[in-house]
Amino acid sequence: MVVAIDGPSGSGKSSVSRAVARRLGTAYLDTGAMYRAATWWCLEEQVDLADQAAVAAAVDVMPLVMGIDPAAPTVHVDGTDVGEAIRTTEISTAVSAVATNLAVRAELRRLQRAIIAAESSVESAGTSFSGGRGIVAEGRDITTVVAPDADARILLTASEEARLARRSLEVHGAADAAAVEATKDQVLRRDRDDSTVSQFHVAADGVVTVDSSDLDFEQTIQAVLDVVEQVLATA
Ligand code: DC
Repeated sequence: MVVAIDGPSGSGKSSVSRAVARRLGTAYLDTGAMYRAATWWCLEEQVDLADQAAVAAAVDVMPLVMGIDPAAPTVHVDGTDVGEAIRTTEISTAVSAVATNLAVRAELRRLQRAIIAAESSVESAGTSFSGGRGIVAEGRDITTVVAPDADARILLTASEEARLARRSLEVHGAADAAAVEATKDQVLRRDRDDSTVSQFHVAADGVVTVDSSDLDFEQTIQAVLDVVEQVLATA
């Protein structure tokens, strides 16, 4: 089983997808973490992010290992655990430059499809932690480009107000007017930049929208699980 979940920043996509994977007993792939890791690697290798060819060449040889256990997802580059380093403001600010590089997208999509195929194939049963029981993959282009044939495809959205409040709480530990204002620029600019290469604000054909604006975390998980259940029941 493959569950594809897309959505903008602050939609709760990562935490919800991870929780859904745990409940379903599947693997979990955070594709945004792959773009973040690629950005970390380029900065580490002192590649000029404006030099598209150099960035693509660096990402081609990036020794990336994604740990896909939803209980403890990990990201290693060249043996270094970059799980925390890829969440810094420096990376969040720089990542769109790498994520809008089409050659980088082609390479990371290839890796993403390989991971999804390995986890969803019957042959892999018993060879990975999830025993080939499937995968929940989340990002911006999973429902449309990476896994358009996924069993369940969901667009997780939330109003701009709800998204900014959530990101603000995450980054600043508060969601008062000043904290939201400080987050606003970063979140909206990144979504605008990312929208140039992926369409993740409107559900594509066959993709079910879950709006989490008025749902708490548990309700959102349940809403996503309901969609998965419905889709599987009609398959
Ligand atoms: O979800 P996130 O904030 O960790 O994503 C990091 C960046 O990667 C963000 O700029 C969007 C981009 N991204 C993408 O272009 N395609 C994906 N499938 C996942 C993330």
